[in-house]
Formats: sequence, C-alpha cells, structure tokens
Amino acid sequence: IAASAASDIARLTGVDHHDIALTLGSGWGKAADLLGETVATIPATEVTGFTKSAVAGHAGTLRSIRARDGRHVLVIGARTHFYERHGVRRVVHSVRTAAATGAGTMVLTNGAGGIKETWTAGTPVLISDHINLTAASPLEGATFVDLTDLYSQRLRAIAREVDPTLDEGVYCQFTGPHYETPAEVQMAKTLGGHIVGMSTALEAIAARQAGMEVLGFSLITNLAAGIQKTPLSHAEVIEAGQLAEPVITKLLAEVVGRL
Ligand code: 6GU
Repeated sequence: IAASAASDIARLTGVDHHDIALTLGSGWGKAADLLGETVATIPATEVTGFTKSAVAGHAGTLRSIRARDGRHVLVIGARTHFYERHGVRRVVHSVRTAAATGAGTMVLTNGAGGIKETWTAGTPVLISDHINLTAASPLEGATFVDLTDLYSQRLRAIAREVDPTLDEGVYCQFTGPHYETPAEVQMAKTLGGHIVGMSTALEAIAARQAGMEVLGFSLITNLAAGIQKTPLSHAEVIEAGQLAEPVITKLLAEVVGRL
C-alpha cells in the first residue's frame, strides 16, 4: 500500500524520487515555505491510503519541493493521529510512503506541551528521544528494531550547528485527544520526559524500521497542564505557531539545506 501511494505521488507530482521527507505538525504549517521551489502540491486524498484529517491547523496536502541544491523534499501536511482511532497502520502510512518514494531522511515536527519551566510558547526544541505511552507499535509480529539512536545524533548536531541555542528534550507520546492531567504531566516528568504530545513517536519507529534517519522538532506551543497556570486550548496552540512562524521557517530551511 505504501508502494502504491508512492507511485501515486510520482504520477501526480511528476517527481519519482524524494530524498527527504518532512511532516508538518501543528504550528509548522507554513514552515516549509523557504525550503525551495514548490514543484507540485497535491491533495492527500488523491493518494492511496491517505484520508482527510478534520483537525483545524492540519492541511491535507502533499507537496514536492526542489531544494536549492536540487534535492527533492516531500512535505507531508496530512497527519493521521493515533486518537482518530483508525489504527497505527494508518498513523504511519505517510512515513512508509515517504520511505517508498526513496527518502532516507525523515523530519518529524509537532506542536507540543513543555514540561521545562524555562521554555515559553513558541520555542522550538529538538527531540532527543521519546517515551511511547500509547501502548501501541507500528511493528507487527516478531519485528525487532533497534531504537538506540532513533533521533539521530548526527542530524541533531547539524541542527545545532544552525542554531546553537536549540534546547532538546525527551518527547512523550500520549494518546490524546484530551490534554494530560497535571498528575500525568508529573508522571511524564518523573519518567524522564520533557515534552508531551500526541504524535511523532509511532511515526519515528516506523521510519527507523524503514531504514530512515530521523530528526524531530517540537514547537512548544504552551506549557503542560499544572506547569502552566492557565487552562490549555487548541486556539493557543494555533496562535503560538503563528507567532513562531518566521523563526521556525528559517530554522527548518537552514537545517534541511544541510541534511
Ligand atoms: Cl500540553 N499535551 C499534548 N499531549 N499535546 C499538546 C499539548 C499538551 N500542547 C500542545 N499539544
């Protein structure tokens, strides 16, 4: 099914090989705009296995961008979340499709809650590792995949060359769609987590299984429940993304240019 999606993409974009894939999470919607020249934008619904996402702030398109150095970047603006309850296979379909187009690098971005008090809304953070709290896995049967260097040290070093002030943290994937309780946030902190969100970990595992090198960024859109004093809202998540847009757009363009 991923192979069939990849051939749909080749047919609809006219680009039969991509080098890098980039998934845009909440707040990151316009962050791919400086990557290069957009060769084609296609509705995700025309590609095998992709279905419309109902979440505000998630565009349902796939875009093929030609970077300045000639490499092709597949920009995935259509994420299926685990909380949509279509199963893990659907959640990781875009990643497997990206691998099937030839991409050897997977850049995953998301909007997430921060546990570190020093972070403020609009701070981009590198994902150093994750804790998968979904009780699910994209791997089926006896498939054993090593995740020691899941969020590639090498790629993180490249990101830090671009912005030496970039902080990093451990991402905890909760199932959502509700935000965590303050007690759950304390649990995540006790477990060694710094970021809470509803995506990315399962996708990263699938990317690694497919042999891709993974880089992950969280945009801290708010502090997590109990850390932040005010209630959380999806509107605030969207707003933080808009405020951070110029900064993360430039960051992403510079990082992808060096991968
Ligand atoms: Cl606080 N939690 C989760 N799970 N996802 C988020 C978030 C919090 N803030 C933005 N996305």
